[in-house]
Amino acid sequence: MIKLKTKIPGARSSKILEELKARNGGWNVPHPLVFSGRGKGAYCEDIDGNVFLDFASQVASNPLGYNHPELIDVVRKCKKISPVKYAGQDFAVEEHLELIKKLLEISPRGMNSAFLINSGAEAVENAGKICMWKRQNAKFSVSFEGAFHGRTLGALSLHHSRPLHREGFPLLQNKELPFNDSASEVLKNMIKRYGADTISFVILEHLQGEGGYRIPNNKMVLGVRSVCKEHGIPYIADEVQAGLGRTGKWWAFEHYNITPDVFSSAKALQVGAVVANRKMFPGKPGIISSTWGGGHVLDMMIGMKIIDIIKRDKLLGRNKKMGDYIVKRLGEIHGISGQRGLGLMCAFDLSNSGLRDNVVIECARLGLLVLGAGEKSIRLIPSYIISEKEIDEALSVIERAVKTCSKSRFSHKGKICDFMGCALDAT
Ligand SMILES: Cc1ncc(COP(=O)(O)O)c(C=O)c1O
Repeated sequence: MIKLKTKIPGARSSKILEELKARNGGWNVPHPLVFSGRGKGAYCEDIDGNVFLDFASQVASNPLGYNHPELIDVVRKCKKISPVKYAGQDFAVEEHLELIKKLLEISPRGMNSAFLINSGAEAVENAGKICMWKRQNAKFSVSFEGAFHGRTLGALSLHHSRPLHREGFPLLQNKELPFNDSASEVLKNMIKRYGADTISFVILEHLQGEGGYRIPNNKMVLGVRSVCKEHGIPYIADEVQAGLGRTGKWWAFEHYNITPDVFSSAKALQVGAVVANRKMFPGKPGIISSTWGGGHVLDMMIGMKIIDIIKRDKLLGRNKKMGDYIVKRLGEIHGISGQRGLGLMCAFDLSNSGLRDNVVIECARLGLLVLGAGEKSIRLIPSYIISEKEIDEALSVIERAVKTCSKSRFSHKGKICDFMGCALDAT
């Protein structure tokens, strides 16, 4: 259960966050707590002793919750936690091969090669690079309205989510498709106008994440996939947020019965990865690499264990069941709309972005961690171990938060606003 001992943020968390705000050059808008490492399952404890219920799961990168005993065991048994962080692309460790093999076992037939890297952005960046390498005459890539693929310059070039992320940066050439039924027609027109060879690749999130948790329909996905196939344009699925079982299938593209040419993974996998048929990769050493490609040995070991546990505990089916329950229960809450989801990638809308921001803050103040997405949505992405009882607890906090924040002239006050950027009177 949520258990708050102090006002949020607590004094110790506040002190660290204040210093971070002053010294962290990449200061963001963080949740008002500092993690202690204590916690169990869906609950985590901050350094002030407050216990939060986590429906943000480290931005979808904590699939098994806090202090899962088998993951702790992995850490305990790891023989390679010497201070050496192995440069895995150049100096091999067996975990690198083992993780690739495990990843390929859960990938579509024909996808027989993977490349390990560090982050989601790097996974996308390298997925794009291998397509560009194959298509030297291509002039631009194609992504979708609302897309988010990461913040390195290559991945940022594919971005059509919040303008703030990309404004002021020199970017690679990219064109945007609408996120609706007309996407394949627009793509066909692009091909007519510029030629298929000018397109390096098309990239799609099969459940759009930061852009607003939008689920594309069959017509959109199948249409674009088929135009790409017909014209030999590589089709990339970005599975960084939706992948590794979150949506109730290993990969979100499986909901559409298609196979991409390349896909990216990261977050829940603990390391970044690009997966494709061997022939998609450059086949020449040195074209793609990174000193720490695959991260620390421990990251790879934990990634493997996560795959094993998802399989053994049949968490794909469980994620679907729990996700359906969340969407059903959301339908009973007054003052929200657009409840939707695939597995444990669920969201709902508020009437405007200010109200949404206030509800996110109010939830944190009440001990529930949730994240915004898109213009006015809140996403619910708990770990795969979430129970109905915990979902009920979370939704009752959301219900209370929506009610409070919908009152006329409501605005947050106090320390929490120093970190979370409170909106004024958003009703
Ligand atoms: C779909 C998608 N692609 C790529 C990224 C970038 O991942 P990272 O933050 O690990 O670089 C994200 C991050 O949220 C994402 O949601």
